[in-house]
Amino acid sequence: MRIIRAKDYDHMSRQAANLISAQVILKPDSVLGLATGSSPIGTYQQLIKWFKKGDLDFGQVRTVNLDEYVGLAPVDPQSYYCFMRRNFFDYVNIYPANTNIPYGLNRNAEDECSRYDETIRRLGGIDLQLLGLGVNGHIGFNEPAEYFTKGTHKVTLSESTVQANKRFFEKEEDVPRFAYTMGICDIMQAKRVVMVVSGESKAEIVKRAFFGPVTPFVPASILQLHTDFTLVADDAALKEI
Ligand code: F6R
Repeated sequence: MRIIRAKDYDHMSRQAANLISAQVILKPDSVLGLATGSSPIGTYQQLIKWFKKGDLDFGQVRTVNLDEYVGLAPVDPQSYYCFMRRNFFDYVNIYPANTNIPYGLNRNAEDECSRYDETIRRLGGIDLQLLGLGVNGHIGFNEPAEYFTKGTHKVTLSESTVQANKRFFEKEEDVPRFAYTMGICDIMQAKRVVMVVSGESKAEIVKRAFFGPVTPFVPASILQLHTDFTLVADDAALKEI
């Protein structure tokens, strides 16, 4: 595990964007695993800036997102599909046909999960997976549990995740209770993993996840065993270590 310490959110975002742009420059047809949430927004903004300057080309890049809420259509403004368009896809030259996100409207969970795992397999696996960290230690929507999950699956979001995500919705009742998420095995099989973490509210979980035992009760802790894992975190998030 490598730790890149950043001064603040903007610095963290630039450092993570550096790693992603190096990946895309060295392998233009990279498969990028992408995340939503507040943590990677600055990283996407930095990548957009470099794209607009002409320094980056996403024309051959393929993407697979970590997760999507069950029950939300891709056109729903709260869907992760919309999030990705709003924060990244609409501003770079990634072909929509090269982007992949679980389909929230497929009510047949078994079908959707095997379809998504097959998509990842067909792409040849993930070259670089970008992650955020939930306050409860989740990655993707792999919530604390008694065992690590393998492939894409349907999850019931934990109360702590519903509380953390309600800021994006008008009312708490609007927060979906279920999601499709890549599994821990999908994430661990990515060749490189880069996690962005910012702010004091994550300091405690950073300590538990990366300086405590590897346990499914803190899903991110398994990244300690990944052979190419980089944690890009700001001073506030690293305050407890
Ligand atoms: C998002 C995702 C989640 C978030 C995590 C942190 O696709 O899979 O694991 O990365 O909940 O969210 P933020 O960055 O909003 O604190």
